[in-house]
Amino acid sequence: MKKFSIIGVGGFVAKKHIDCIKNLKGRLISTCDINENVGFLDQNFPKTLFFNNQKDFFYFNKKNKVDYIIVCTPSYLHFKNIKSSLQSGCNVIVEKPPVLNYSNLKEIYSLEKKYKKKCFCIFQLRLNDRLIKLKKKIEKNPKLFENKRISIDYYTYRGDWYFKSWKNTKKLSGGLLVNIGIHFFDILIWLFGNVKNLKLNKKNNEHSKGKIKFDHAKVSWNLSLKRNNMAIKNKQTKFLRRMIVGKHIFKFDKFNDLHEKNYLNILKHKKFHISEFEKTIQILKHLTK
Ligand SMILES: NC(=O)c1ccc[n+]([C@@H]2O[C@H](COP(=O)([O-])OP(=O)(O)OC[C@H]3O[C@@H](n4cnc5c(N)ncnc54)[C@H](O)[C@@H]3O)[C@@H](O)[C@H]2O)c1
Repeated sequence: MKKFSIIGVGGFVAKKHIDCIKNLKGRLISTCDINENVGFLDQNFPKTLFFNNQKDFFYFNKKNKVDYIIVCTPSYLHFKNIKSSLQSGCNVIVEKPPVLNYSNLKEIYSLEKKYKKKCFCIFQLRLNDRLIKLKKKIEKNPKLFENKRISIDYYTYRGDWYFKSWKNTKKLSGGLLVNIGIHFFDILIWLFGNVKNLKLNKKNNEHSKGKIKFDHAKVSWNLSLKRNNMAIKNKQTKFLRRMIVGKHIFKFDKFNDLHEKNYLNILKHKKFHISEFEKTIQILKHLTK
């Protein structure tokens, strides 16, 4: 039974990690947050320790040889938390975006070597069955979609709270394209190869769009936090997240069980290692310049 600890346990995404640990019969040994509103822990892990101080949290994990520290803090803290976790002799599972810049990534590789531990990432969409099938098709025939129309509509509504939170501050989250766009930019690179050319037609905190030429496709994308008329017509007031590839429509709707698949992938196959996101981090650097 693996031993896990979570930093940033009080937030939105940590609840998905708690479900994974529970379903995979892991032990949640310790948790940390600066916000103490974490009474929900008593439902599934009543005995887990809680720290509101990072120094004590990392010291505890080192002493107790915890297998994985899960980083669910706001994105600007990821690098610092990954570093402390590796220094504590623990492997890491970090939420997306694993880090906000490329030089952090390089430093993580050397810390991994120094402390002989590894850093893995959550990029759950790479585990969507239909996207895996599409990737296999493209691997067999890389030219398959070269002349087809490919577009992404990613409307994912956010209320006023979002615009007042760390998520809307570029320095803290990377901004809209990193915080939310990363999901589909990562999928596009994974499917269609290197970026040859990119054009941004619109960019603000709430709505961005552009075109990217990859090795094997030309894609136009549209990302918005506003309500979308088509989604409202379909009685889906919050989301319209889809990719159109020729005649096929892929909906990015079934996110829910994918965190657990991601955990199994890490535990069984040691994937996704943080190095698998080098290209994605590089393209985001260009888009957010
Ligand atoms: N994979 C996905 O689909 C997905 C979805 C949502 C968020 N995320 C990522 O997960 C991370 C967290 O996002 P969220 O939506 O849960 O944010 P959130 O703001 O809801 O939660 C962050 C938590 O971290 C805590 N925190 C802040 N500073 C801290 C510190 N110094 N020490 C300890 N705890 C601290 C906060 O109190 C809060 O409880 C982000 O990197 C985000 O990009 C991924």
